[in-house]
Amino acid sequence: MFRGLMAEPEDVQRLEEAVKQKPLPRHIGIIMDGNGRWAELRGMPRVQGHREGSNSVREVTRCARRIGIEALTLYAFSSQNWSRPAEEVAALMDLLREYLEKERAEIMDHGIRLNAIGDVEKLPKFVREPLDRLREESSKNTGMWLTLALSYGGREEIVRATRDVAEKVQKGELRPEAIDERVFGQHLWTHGLPELDLVIRSSGERRISNFLLWQAAYAEFVFTDTLWPELRAEEFLRCVSQYQNRERRFGLTGAQLRNQKVSGAQGAS
Ligand code: IPE
Ligand code: IPE
Ligand code: MG
Repeated sequence: MFRGLMAEPEDVQRLEEAVKQKPLPRHIGIIMDGNGRWAELRGMPRVQGHREGSNSVREVTRCARRIGIEALTLYAFSSQNWSRPAEEVAALMDLLREYLEKERAEIMDHGIRLNAIGDVEKLPKFVREPLDRLREESSKNTGMWLTLALSYGGREEIVRATRDVAEKVQKGELRPEAIDERVFGQHLWTHGLPELDLVIRSSGERRISNFLLWQAAYAEFVFTDTLWPELRAEEFLRCVSQYQNRERRFGLTGAQLRNQKVSGAQGAS
């Protein structure tokens, strides 16, 4: 059967119903890659790809909210992306501001909590201000956590957390023996978000590019060749469905897991 680029709404609805029947990932991270190539393939400037990519952001965010995902983290700008040509960085900052202004109503109307991780102090004031405003405004909402990773790097995050922990030890507020994974995790930018279950990366690259390094310890990865501006609700749902068909073993054997399921089911009855 021919499958066009744009999914029919019935297809999306049917897929949504199907994924809702099985346990959903609580927290999904997306490495939204391929905007530049999408534009270059069409002979357009790269910024057009970023612009088109923001339509995917809107569509995927809506879809994640509708199916009941608790937390969605979008890698929008990495610590390393500052080294791109100045015009591209400037265009990305303009787009970010535009996004924060245009999506305000949608975020508030749907009770979304907007969050940001990364070295946001580095962002220009014209981005930081609407970002802080919307974070504050949406902080009392109780719906999906939408986290934008901006000027974000996983290594940078771990180093910063280590520094904070070391300072507490130095001040006598924390004993070295008391540092465990839980305590360390409380010093990360993602503190308070559910465990990362699924990472999706578009554009055919199969690498993590400094995204949620600590948090991805046991996440499932779904890689797709689709370029981000073309990744819309239907494909997002297919990625979730792939996740649902995996067996997450967390170091155990398959048999142990099956036994756990049996005793869990007995316990529940
Ligand atoms: C991802 O698309 C967006 C950002 C990194 C800001 P790219 O701009 O990396 O697109 P490609 O990888 O060059 O195609
Ligand atoms: C990762 O994409 C960062 C974002 C999607 C924001 P990049 O395009 O920067 O990653 P590399 O350079 O291919 O690893
Ligand atoms: Mg890229």
